[in-house]
Amino acid sequence: MKDLQRLADRYGTPLYVYDGSVLVRQYEKLRAALPQRVEIFFAMKSNPNLAIVALFRRLGAGVDIASVGELRAALRVGVAPQKIVFSGPGKTDAELEAAVAADIFAINVESEGELERVQRIAQRVGRRVRVGLRLNPPFAPGEGAVIIGGAVPQKFGIDLARARAAVALAQRLSHVELIGIHIFNASNVLDAEAWVKNAESIIETAVELARATGFALRYIDVGGGLGVPYREGERELDVSVLGEGLGRAVRELSAETRVLIEPGRYLTAEAGVYVTRVVEIKETRGERFVVVDGGVHHLLRPVLVGQSHPVRVLSCGGEGGVGVAGRCSIAGPLCTALDYLARGVELPVVRVGDLVVVERVGAYGFTESMPYFLSHPTPAEVLIWEGREHVIRRRQRPEELWAWQSVPEGLL
Ligand SMILES: Cc1ncc(COP(=O)(O)O)c(C=O)c1O
Repeated sequence: MKDLQRLADRYGTPLYVYDGSVLVRQYEKLRAALPQRVEIFFAMKSNPNLAIVALFRRLGAGVDIASVGELRAALRVGVAPQKIVFSGPGKTDAELEAAVAADIFAINVESEGELERVQRIAQRVGRRVRVGLRLNPPFAPGEGAVIIGGAVPQKFGIDLARARAAVALAQRLSHVELIGIHIFNASNVLDAEAWVKNAESIIETAVELARATGFALRYIDVGGGLGVPYREGERELDVSVLGEGLGRAVRELSAETRVLIEPGRYLTAEAGVYVTRVVEIKETRGERFVVVDGGVHHLLRPVLVGQSHPVRVLSCGGEGGVGVAGRCSIAGPLCTALDYLARGVELPVVRVGDLVVVERVGAYGFTESMPYFLSHPTPAEVLIWEGREHVIRRRQRPEELWAWQSVPEGLL
């Protein structure tokens, strides 16, 4: 991305910058590779900024939501209710009620208990509600991927062994209309063949279950999990292999069955960078630290999931302090030993005032962080879209957070 120095000077640091042309490129690349009948539902959790959701809506995507907040955001930017699916464990009654009121395409139900709660809510409003069952299968897409499903006990989905009983329950419920099957069981898969094999198993599972239990399968949601390379040497996911494989897998499906895919990371990760400025450089016990003005309060992934992201230095030509080069750790300003954006990375000469840019953070970046810790200002977010820059989230000052707090009378 060009121009980061100017953007950092203009909007200050720390700063998230998203390149709209990369968001479009990723979407179009995937769209072109997938069979026409496969519908892309953007997983908003990867980057729920309104502007990003609006951009994908404009490109033609539906959305996969995981909360009432995401539902409101999707509706706010004009996503049609028929292009919304709601997945995720622990949906509250209030969230289910909001989804029912909005008449979204389907609720991916994660447990028998949730099915019964949907029934009660649907009965209250007096109409049938469309649901899919999220299943937790014993298969997973190969090695290297972060497994969400698989044969381990977990809060997501209904174990495949109980699927028939869950279908039977749904069929007994007067106000529930079971129309689909959802399986999302791995994240960040870079091996297209492994992803396809997994999708084949998902489709087979859904078709067999519908056949055996006699419900009309109106959709199969094969989840997300399309990976992006973060480390040097990792190969890009080959979406043409993925598209061809998925094409073969859906060929025999009835035209009545919609096929949904819900990628998050693949669409947003590469478009985003987190820009910080070097505040201090120090050496202690033989290790060099480049201390920057942003940290894991804005970008938690490096410590949360142990993910290393590419970093680069933009020299700002400052004279301040001694320049260091070589192996350094990049630490943020937080009073916790966890606050590293990168450890032991090779850097070119870096000086106080230079910029350190963490790359590929457009997915699960700011949204997955802890911005309140230590009351720093939040980062601003800027989107470059059709040659112009737009502040899509302004920086919030700590004083603004006081608006939600109060001090009991007599303590001041
Ligand atoms: C239900 C569901 N769908 C889709 C996604 C998106 O996954 P990814 O960003 O790996 O494509 C997630 C991520 O956690 C998810 O929970």
